[in-house]
Amino acid sequence: MKRLAILASGRGSNFQAILDSIKAGKIKAKVAVLFSNNPNAKALERAKKEGISTECIDSKPYKNKRTEYDLKVMEVLHKYEVDYVLLAGYMRILSPTFVNAYKNRILNIHPSLLPAFPGINAQKQAFDYGVKFTGCTVHFVNNVVDGGPIITQTVVPVYENDTVETLTDRILKEEHKLYPEVVRLLIEGRLKVVGREVIILPPKR
Ligand code: GRF
Repeated sequence: MKRLAILASGRGSNFQAILDSIKAGKIKAKVAVLFSNNPNAKALERAKKEGISTECIDSKPYKNKRTEYDLKVMEVLHKYEVDYVLLAGYMRILSPTFVNAYKNRILNIHPSLLPAFPGINAQKQAFDYGVKFTGCTVHFVNNVVDGGPIITQTVVPVYENDTVETLTDRILKEEHKLYPEVVRLLIEGRLKVVGREVIILPPKR
């Protein structure tokens, strides 16, 4: 059984969606550890409640020491014999050391249709720009922030009476469907990266 590490800094609703999908038998993998850089992350509480191992290294003292911090995180992942790393609201940029060690084995979800609106507050960026459609993207992580090969995306409409909050909620609902679905494909060995393109292979028989 493939072993997952989920890295989250906050609320952890995407972590929960993936875990629920595993519990429902849709994804045949195990969450080996929920890791956070934020001791106050709600995701840590969720994991404990679910009986998932948790680890936390407060990143505050490591502000400009990205590689040093990541080496510690990698030690933790090594201890849990992790096959794949899923970023789920993990608010730290990964160092090349980390990214290269898990090449094509790190996924991220981003709340916009990349390459539009990378970085933080993507929903607000899209809202303020006045786009009529935005959405969410699941992609492999490379050394460009929110710039790795795109696996799949969901389009979400922006309505005239939307606020950033209503739009954010609408996107989040789609994230909770999209991320577990992609993790399932990953675990089934159905994602093939060819340059910038990700090919989704048919189910194995
Ligand atoms: C999500 O909107 C995700 O796309 C972004 O951060 C948010 C995390 O939410 N990367 P949660 O912690 O999973 O609830």
